[in-house]
Amino acid sequence: MGTSSCIPIFILLLFSPLCKSDDRLTQAKPLFLDDTLISKGGAFALGFYSPTSSNASWYLCIWYHNISKHTVVWTANRDSPITAPSSPMLAITNNSDLVLSDSQGHIHWAVNNDITGMGVVAELLNKGNFVLRRSPNNTTIWESFDHPTDTLLPTAKILFSTGRLVSWKELNDPSTGNFSLSFYSSSTLQFIIWNGTQPYSRILMPNDGSVFGDTYPNIVFSEAIGGTGDGLYYQYTIISDNSPYVRVMLDYMGVLRTLSWNNLSWTNISVRATSDCDLYASCGPFGYCDYVGHVPTCRCLDGFEPVGLGLNFSGGCRRTMALTCGKQSYYLNLTQMKIPDKFLHVPNKSIDDCAAECSNNCLCTAYTMTNQSRCLIWLGELIDTGKYDQYGENLHLRLADSPENNKMVKIVLPIIACMLTLTCIALVSICKYRARKRHKKDTHKRQMIEYLNSSIEIEDEDVDFPFVSFEDIAAATDNFSDSNQIGRGGFGKVYKGILEGVNEVAIKRLSKDSGQGIEEFKNEVVLIAKLQHKNLVRLLGCCIHGDERLLIYEYLPNKSLDTFLFDAARQFVLDWPTRFKIIKGVARGLLYLHQDSRLTIIHRDLKASNILLDSEMVPKISDFGMARIFGGNQQQANTTRVVGTYGYMSPEYVMGGAFSVKSDTYSFGVLLLEIVSGLKISSPQLVMNFVGLTAYAWRLWEDGKAAELVHSSVIETYQLHEALRCIHVGLLCVQDRPDDRPLMSSVIFMLENESALLSAPKKPAYFALRNFETTEPRENIEISVDGVSNTTLVGR
Ligand SMILES: *[C@@H]1O[C@H](CO)[C@@H](O)[C@H](O)[C@H]1NC(C)=O
Ligand SMILES: *[C@@H]1O[C@H](CO)[C@@H](O)[C@H](O)[C@H]1NC(C)=O
Ligand SMILES: *[C@@H]1O[C@H](CO)[C@@H](O)[C@H](O)[C@H]1NC(C)=O
Ligand SMILES: *[C@@H]1O[C@H](CO)[C@@H](O)[C@H](O)[C@H]1NC(C)=O
Ligand SMILES: *[C@@H]1O[C@H](CO)[C@@H](O)[C@H](O)[C@H]1NC(C)=O
Ligand SMILES: *[C@@H]1O[C@H](CO)[C@@H](O)[C@H](O)[C@H]1NC(C)=O
Ligand SMILES: *[C@@H]1O[C@H](CO)[C@@H](O)[C@H](O)[C@H]1NC(C)=O
Ligand SMILES: *[C@@H]1O[C@H](CO)[C@@H](O)[C@H](O)[C@H]1NC(C)=O
Ligand SMILES: *[C@@H]1O[C@H](CO)[C@@H](O)[C@H](O)[C@H]1NC(C)=O
Ligand SMILES: *[C@@H]1O[C@H](CO)[C@@H](O)[C@H](O)[C@H]1NC(C)=O
Ligand SMILES: *[C@@H]1O[C@H](CO)[C@@H](O)[C@H](O)[C@H]1NC(C)=O
Ligand SMILES: *[C@@H]1O[C@H](CO)[C@@H](O)[C@H](O)[C@H]1NC(C)=O
Repeated sequence: MGTSSCIPIFILLLFSPLCKSDDRLTQAKPLFLDDTLISKGGAFALGFYSPTSSNASWYLCIWYHNISKHTVVWTANRDSPITAPSSPMLAITNNSDLVLSDSQGHIHWAVNNDITGMGVVAELLNKGNFVLRRSPNNTTIWESFDHPTDTLLPTAKILFSTGRLVSWKELNDPSTGNFSLSFYSSSTLQFIIWNGTQPYSRILMPNDGSVFGDTYPNIVFSEAIGGTGDGLYYQYTIISDNSPYVRVMLDYMGVLRTLSWNNLSWTNISVRATSDCDLYASCGPFGYCDYVGHVPTCRCLDGFEPVGLGLNFSGGCRRTMALTCGKQSYYLNLTQMKIPDKFLHVPNKSIDDCAAECSNNCLCTAYTMTNQSRCLIWLGELIDTGKYDQYGENLHLRLADSPENNKMVKIVLPIIACMLTLTCIALVSICKYRARKRHKKDTHKRQMIEYLNSSIEIEDEDVDFPFVSFEDIAAATDNFSDSNQIGRGGFGKVYKGILEGVNEVAIKRLSKDSGQGIEEFKNEVVLIAKLQHKNLVRLLGCCIHGDERLLIYEYLPNKSLDTFLFDAARQFVLDWPTRFKIIKGVARGLLYLHQDSRLTIIHRDLKASNILLDSEMVPKISDFGMARIFGGNQQQANTTRVVGTYGYMSPEYVMGGAFSVKSDTYSFGVLLLEIVSGLKISSPQLVMNFVGLTAYAWRLWEDGKAAELVHSSVIETYQLHEALRCIHVGLLCVQDRPDDRPLMSSVIFMLENESALLSAPKKPAYFALRNFETTEPRENIEISVDGVSNTTLVGR
């Protein structure tokens, strides 16, 4: 075949150099099974290769031409080999497409373009790059360096936005394997090896060293980050003279290796992700991998102790002393650290401002001023950190007190706690004795009103829901039996019960040991008692009994929205009309909270698990534990206790604790995008290329492909214009500046009036601050620093 393809060229050109060692592919001269292109200089070859000796399946590959070991660096048709007896052909078609086909004419791989005529030529360059060019002026149309397989060659640029290396499946099987490598540079350069959609190992670029070129005799690496925006790339070149061949590759076991050819075999210059300690989050939350000794080992950060026993770090570490919000905290300066994952980059901060940023946020557990003078802070758990023996950053870890003082506290605290407990027991006994003398029901009502009056001024007649006795509730729930439990959250458990006259109810029993729970309890009772709306969950009664606090709600059999939205089997129940109805219902419930009730109420924790569905799938906003009431003309407030669910919280709230009705608008926007797309705000499917749902939605929107965001399960039932309008409104709601976000009244207007003109959304920059979202089993990061976490009522 090879010779036959040469004949026309002999005739046409009357002279030809050895046709098989050409470096070009033209329209007149396709490449057949036994042909190869050899780059000018002789370093690389392109042709067909079968990794198994039986020659059963053919791949179009690039390999090193002049070394003794056949080493493939690029494969075109990795998942579509050409199997014998069919034989392969690579050709440039009349449409200027580069096409790999078999003898039956099936296309296995192609580079399509819209150039017509005899305008293109493909050339194998001596760096190992196969480029398709337009002939008159050499404009590059396509190049293999932009589409690497498992190998990154010197001078190839790998894009942060879309570039990745994907491992082979097996040693001798080039098809797509489990492992992939991608680059991030939201603030510090890091790259992540993934096993499927799970992070497998995270590696940081040492600030003075290099990523791949650990010092190795005679080989000098030059590494660079160039480009801007979506064009940001990483590139390495070998600048020493007479260097042997060097390549970086991700092998089929997930090991990232830098290799050099030493005339006989490939030797490792560096290998990554080989020890257990290297693996992502292997030391658990607040644990770190200590690289200082000979063998990397998991340890706890100072001020923390292991949760598990012995060397089992899967549970990570816990504080020896809890942080208290609002109290001055102490920062421990840890040096030469691999910075933990999931940081927030706060732009334009000096080291002092960065420390203040952390101190002002109750969720903040650490901050760093990187060597590039970037302020990074962490909210919640510190995960996947380590200590190096030379490079690394200074990590300032927030502790309740210095570790020396901790030891004192450990002794004194139990004594104080003991005394307090004794006092409490005495007081409670006295109270109980007195209380028993009075009539039971009266006591409840009187206590309740006194209690409520002491927190917020309300008139007596405002509180007209029934007080239920503890005994009745205990009977209704079979004495709080496990079989009646239908959910649990940060503040306690939720039971299903049968109450006389009301039938099925959901009973929320606040846990006794959560001191903060009392605040939340007051809040919830006072608020919901006053609220009556179709889209808000109804509070039917309450009970205070000793230190027990219970709330009785209407029972909603369909549980919460997230149990439908993110469940592969149940998401089909939510067809488009239902989803649209839910979106509008939540918007109306929120509008009622913001504007239509007598007060302005900010919910502060709107999310899919807080939207309950009744039997008709009417959405009901629940869980007002975090809600705040604004009186009169108050527009905005600040808090030092930032509570909520990560991803749903607006940037100004997370960063500065400022909240307003527009913080709820933000959460609503996120929820809306989730309902349309069926993707979680921190969705593993998105992680590969996007930082989160908002980033993903924005990219599709910008590219005019917003319709692709709509979840496949509603394709048959949806109205495209409604879905697009929802996405548009969602993007308006998640804009960075609170002033840019619409009020809920406008949101409803925009959703319900097809003719309403919508302004163009601005790019949400918030996503650029996060490095990437969690893909761990925890579905929402309920951050708890000061012993407070938010309530999740599920299972109703
Ligand atoms: C292979 O080619 C490279 C680049 O042209 C050259 O530097 C090297 O000496 C050659 N190696 C062998 C073994 O021929
Ligand atoms: C496979 O192909 C190679 C080169 O193309 C050849 O040397 C070898 O003999 C072939 N093996 C079989 C089993 O046909
Ligand atoms: C491509 O063009 C040549 C000459 O113009 C023609 O002979 C040939 O049939 C065309 N091939 C196809 C597949 O259209
Ligand atoms: C295009 O590239 C080839 C080889 O790379 C070179 O010989 C030719 O002069 C270039 N043409 C132009 C117009 O740059
Ligand atoms: C290259 O030539 C083509 C056709 O002649 C033209 O369309 C294109 O704009 C040129 N590109 C550059 C970079 O000059
Ligand atoms: C790749 O993943 C599959 C399951 O997804 C697993 O069975 C297989 O062992 C994995 N291979 C490697 C090398 O980890
Ligand atoms: C990669 O993940 C798969 C399942 O997704 C698992 O079976 C396999 O063991 C993992 N491989 C490694 C090396 O952890
Ligand atoms: C490879 O061989 C050449 C010549 O035989 C020698 O100069 C060079 O040092 C060798 N390279 C390595 C890495 O051994
Ligand atoms: C290179 O590293 C790999 C992966 O750790 C290992 O399997 C291999 O034995 C090493 N090769 C040499 C020559 O040390
Ligand atoms: C490690 O501890 C966790 C709980 O913290 C436990 O589930 C797991 O089984 C333990 N693993 C081993 C190997 O002991
Ligand atoms: C933390 O420690 C390092 C090394 O001792 C020192 O250079 C740095 O200034 C310290 N940072 C602060 C804020 O004290
Ligand atoms: C940061 O500072 C630079 C220059 O001082 C300014 O141009 C930029 O707008 C600032 N960025 C932010 C987010 O404030």
